[in-house]
Amino acid sequence: MSDLYLKIVNTAAGKTAAQTLGLPAPVPLKRLKRTDQPFIEGDILIGAAGGAKAVATLGSVLSASAANLHHASGNQRLNDSAKAGNKAQPLELGADIHQTFSALVFDATGLRSPDDLRALYDFFHPTIKKLGGNARVLVIGQNPASCRKPPHAAAQQALEGFVRSVGKEIGKKGSTANLLWMAPGAEKQLDSSVRFFLSPRSAYVSGQVVKIGKRESSKATNPVAPLTGKVALVTGASRGIGAAIAETLARDGATVVGLDIPPAMEELEKVTSAINGKALACDITDAKAPKLIGDFLEEHFGGVDLVIHNAGITRDKTLGNMPEHFWDMTIAVNLSAEELIDEELIHRELLKENGRIVCISSISGIAGNFGQTNYSTAKCGVIGYVEAMARQVRNGVTINAVAPGFIETQMTAAMPITLREAGRRMNSLSQGGQPVDVAETIAWYCSPASNGVNGNVVRVCGQSLIGK
Ligand code: NAI
Repeated sequence: MSDLYLKIVNTAAGKTAAQTLGLPAPVPLKRLKRTDQPFIEGDILIGAAGGAKAVATLGSVLSASAANLHHASGNQRLNDSAKAGNKAQPLELGADIHQTFSALVFDATGLRSPDDLRALYDFFHPTIKKLGGNARVLVIGQNPASCRKPPHAAAQQALEGFVRSVGKEIGKKGSTANLLWMAPGAEKQLDSSVRFFLSPRSAYVSGQVVKIGKRESSKATNPVAPLTGKVALVTGASRGIGAAIAETLARDGATVVGLDIPPAMEELEKVTSAINGKALACDITDAKAPKLIGDFLEEHFGGVDLVIHNAGITRDKTLGNMPEHFWDMTIAVNLSAEELIDEELIHRELLKENGRIVCISSISGIAGNFGQTNYSTAKCGVIGYVEAMARQVRNGVTINAVAPGFIETQMTAAMPITLREAGRRMNSLSQGGQPVDVAETIAWYCSPASNGVNGNVVRVCGQSLIGK
């Protein structure tokens, strides 16, 4: 559905009116146009506090982009920045800065106490106003859970508050801020996440913290079609977010099995035939569904690599007015079915080595929502399921979740106009997301290079002002 306000406010007259009335003036977000486009262009500034562990890796990942690299110099606290490598030119922070940056990237893994946090100020204070529109701030820290000493954990945890606030300050220019918390020694696992969070693929993802674990090094992948040779199951694929996921995974090289309820077959077949995929008619709440899905995947492909549990429903009513079938259906579709399908696929060893499971939660599951006790319960349960499963998966398999905020689909088009407008504007980017924003996040989870990304819940919500 189109956002008329976003269009009007980006005309000359609309801009003036919004400024005069103090209304939000969202900037159109730049999304990926071609899969072979560089993941980032323009001028990037890298900074690092003393003792930084990821700066050399960052330098080599960023050297592969089309951007001009600079590293911060002229400040004693940022003395490790030069480790970004020869391709990064020194840039004096004290002097006048003439560049407009497409990204500011800071390696904060060396921060060991609250006093060290001053390095954040030293790097960002002179540079943050030099960020262009649709720009990126990316901070790399160490997961506080791995810090033994309390001052160390405090400094690393503090990065979360910093990044979330920066996201709120730069969102009005269509820019985002995110934090990668790596486990000690997980530098080699940063590549796919650095690329994702600096690229237009993450246009609607801001204020997020991603944990990156240490895993075996991933094999080099084809950057244009990283999912070549993979088979993906996408539930609820006939429309909305599910259709975008199917199209995006196919774009990245996967063969997609789209699944939806029998009445949606005509729409589903349109989606799957356009991407040379297969359509599977199935109600995931049917007792026979897990076996039917397993049999289908085994017969046609000998198994599955990527399982995307996208199908979902809402049945809204306040709790006292809610009929029991509203409760039961919502829990069954949004939560129980996912678990039963995974159990079948894992038990029958149909989920292949280095497989990926992705579940869809919701901001409603994080913050709660009036009239959605059933939906919020189910979507919060998805988070518990993903976190517990992440500790159990073996064989290189990962499981993660996305929690969309307000995404422009038939589901949100059906909302009353006042709620719809509020939903669109109540985030740092002051606009709704597109189904492709959720799909791109899932494609990043699915990449073979994301093998260190496990047990995360990333909100695709433009940094919604509600919830965490
Ligand atoms: P949608 O209503 O447009 O599509 C959902 C799809 O799931 C439909 O094709 C439907 O036929 C299918 N489905 C429903 N019950 C099924 C069943 N029993 N078996 C098989 N397929 C079934 O929804 P939308 O907006 O595309 O949402 C996709 C996912 O994202 C859902 O899990 C939803 O809860 C979640 N979400 C969406 C948000 C939004 O703003 N649109 C916000 C937060 C979460």
